[in-house]
Amino acid sequence: MCGIVGYVGHRDALPLLLNSLERVTYRGYDSFGVALLNGQGIEVYKSVGTVEECRAQVPPLQGTLAIGHTRWSTVGKVSVDNAHPHLDCSGEVAIVHNGDIDNFSYLRQRLQDQGHSFRSETDSEVIAHLIEAYSNGDIVDAVSRAMRELEGSFAIAVLHRPSRQIVAARRESPLVIGLGKGEAFIASDIPAILPYTNQVAFLEDGDLALVSEEGLRVWHDGREASRQVHQVSWSAEQMSKGGYDHFMLKEIYEQPQAIRDTVTEYTEQSRGGPSLGCFLPVTDPDVVLLLGCGTSYHAALLGEQLLSRLLPGPVVARVASEFQAGSLRSDRGLAIAFSQSGETTDTITALRHVKSAGFSSLAVTNVMESSITRAVDATLYTRAGPEVAVASTKTFISQLVALYVLAYQLAPDRQAVEMIPRNLRALPGKVRQLLANVETIQQVARELAEAPYMFVIAKGLDVPVALEGALKFKEVAYLHTEGYPAGELKHGPFALLQEETPVLAIVPADQHRARMLTTIREIKTRGSRVIAIAAQDDEEVAEFADSVLRIPKIDPLMSPVLNTVMVQLLSYYCALERGCPIDRPRNLAKSVTVP
Ligand code: G6P
Repeated sequence: MCGIVGYVGHRDALPLLLNSLERVTYRGYDSFGVALLNGQGIEVYKSVGTVEECRAQVPPLQGTLAIGHTRWSTVGKVSVDNAHPHLDCSGEVAIVHNGDIDNFSYLRQRLQDQGHSFRSETDSEVIAHLIEAYSNGDIVDAVSRAMRELEGSFAIAVLHRPSRQIVAARRESPLVIGLGKGEAFIASDIPAILPYTNQVAFLEDGDLALVSEEGLRVWHDGREASRQVHQVSWSAEQMSKGGYDHFMLKEIYEQPQAIRDTVTEYTEQSRGGPSLGCFLPVTDPDVVLLLGCGTSYHAALLGEQLLSRLLPGPVVARVASEFQAGSLRSDRGLAIAFSQSGETTDTITALRHVKSAGFSSLAVTNVMESSITRAVDATLYTRAGPEVAVASTKTFISQLVALYVLAYQLAPDRQAVEMIPRNLRALPGKVRQLLANVETIQQVARELAEAPYMFVIAKGLDVPVALEGALKFKEVAYLHTEGYPAGELKHGPFALLQEETPVLAIVPADQHRARMLTTIREIKTRGSRVIAIAAQDDEEVAEFADSVLRIPKIDPLMSPVLNTVMVQLLSYYCALERGCPIDRPRNLAKSVTVP
C-alpha cells in the first residue's frame, strides 16, 4: 500500500534508495520516484513501472539526503505526475506519502484559492502545499502545523531544501527509522533498510521526527519524546531469493523452519518435559472472537473450527473489514486478531470496536512492534521471518501453528489437546516430506492451468483451507477458483460443473471422510474431473477420484497444515504454467493500510 524510504548520511543516496524501494516493492508497484538534495536544489525522478524494470533509465542523480516512494495508486490514476515525490510550488519541499488524506478535496480547494498550483490528481500533493503554506523557516514547526490539518492516515517523509533536513511523521500508517554511524534511514517496513542497519526505532501514532546524521529527535503532542532502539533479528540474506525462481516458492520451502521457530518461541522446558505456553490477557474466556482479512481471515476461520471443538463457550470468526460489534458485549471475552503485517487498517479498526465491547485482545502477527501490537493487550509473534511475495504462505502456516498453541493453552479438557505439542514438533518433518516430492503436484498443476475456472471443496477443519487454496489460485494464477464447503455444492454451484471444470477435493481422515467420498461420486456423475488430496494410507479414495495427491500421515487435527502446503504448491505451479507475475500479482499489495 505504497512504500516510502529516506536517507540522510554520507553515502551516495540514489543506489541505496533504489535498493530500499526494491525491497518494499510488495507494498506497491505501479510507479516510483525519488527526490535528492544537491547543489541544484531538489532533483526529482519519477517513472511508471517498478524500480526493477526501470532502474537502468534512472539518471545518476547525486545527493546524500533523499526520499523515495513506490506507489499502489488509490487517489489518481497510474501516471508519472501522480507518482511521488510531490513538490510544493517553490520546489523547496518534497514529500512522499503512504496513506489516505480524507479531507484532501477541501484542503486542495483552499490551497488553490490561496494561489497554490497542483500538478497531480493525488490526495498526497496537498501535504507539500500545506507545509509550504505554513513555512516560516522552521520545517519541524511547519510539518507539525500541517499534520494538525490532515484528516486520515499518513506516513510521510519531507525533504526541505533550505534547512537541508528530513522530517518524518506518522498517523496510522507505519514508519520505522534505521540508525547507523553518522547516517539514518526512513522506511515503511524493516526489509527496506535491513542491508544497512539492524538498529531500528518505531515511530508511534502522532509522532513527528527530525531524522539526521546525528540520529533521531521525536516530538509527540508538542513535547519531545524518546523512542526505544531495537535490534532486529531478521537478516538481509533472508530477503533474497536464495536460488529460487520466486519468493513465493522460497517461502513455501521455508515453512518447516517457520513452523519450528514459531513452536520453539512458545515451548518452555518444564519438569514434565517441553510444553507450550504464551501470555494470554484472559485465560478462561466466555466467548472468543477471531478477526482477520484475506489470508489472515482464513486463519481466523480455522481458529473457529478448532477452538469451537475445544472450548465450552462460543467461538466466532469474522472478516475484520465487515466487523461491527453490534450488541456484542463481554468483559471476559477474548478477541484474537490475525495479521501478517500487523498494519491492516480494517483489522486494527475492528479491534477498536471489540475493545469498546469490553473484550480483551490478542494479536497474532509476524512483524515486531507493528501497529496492531499497540492496539491490543498482548501479542503472540509468529516467527516466519520476512515474507516478500505478496501472497502469504509461510506466515499463514505460522498463524496456524499459533492457533494450535492457543488451543493447547485454552482447552479445559487437557486430554483432548495432549497430542498437540508432539504433533507440532513432528510437523516440520512432515512438511519437508511433502516438499521433497513435487513431480505429481507439478503435473496436476499443469492440467489445472488449462481450466476456465475450478473449485476447491472440503468439509470441517479443511473448509478454511479450501478458501485459502481458492484465494491462492485467484491471487497468483489468475484462475477464478471457488472455495466451497462440499455440502453446499449441490445448492447452486453444481450448475457450473462441466467436463472442463476440475474440482480439487480435500479428503480428511476424520468423521467427514465418508461424506466427502459421496460428494466426489456426485461430482463425477456430472462429468467433472476430481483431484483428491488425501492421506498417504487412504487407498480407497483412488477408486473415487481421477487422481490423488498424497499428504504424509498425521493426526487429523493437524492435517489442514499439510493440505495448505499442497494447495500452495498447486497454485504456484499453476501460476508458473500460466506465466503470471507470481510474486507481485496485478493490483495487489502486501499490506493494506487504507480502509
Ligand atoms: C492483503 C494481502 C493478503 C493478506 C491481507 C491481510 O490483501 O495481499 O495476502 O492476507 O492483505 O494482510 P495481513 O497483513 O493483515 O495479514
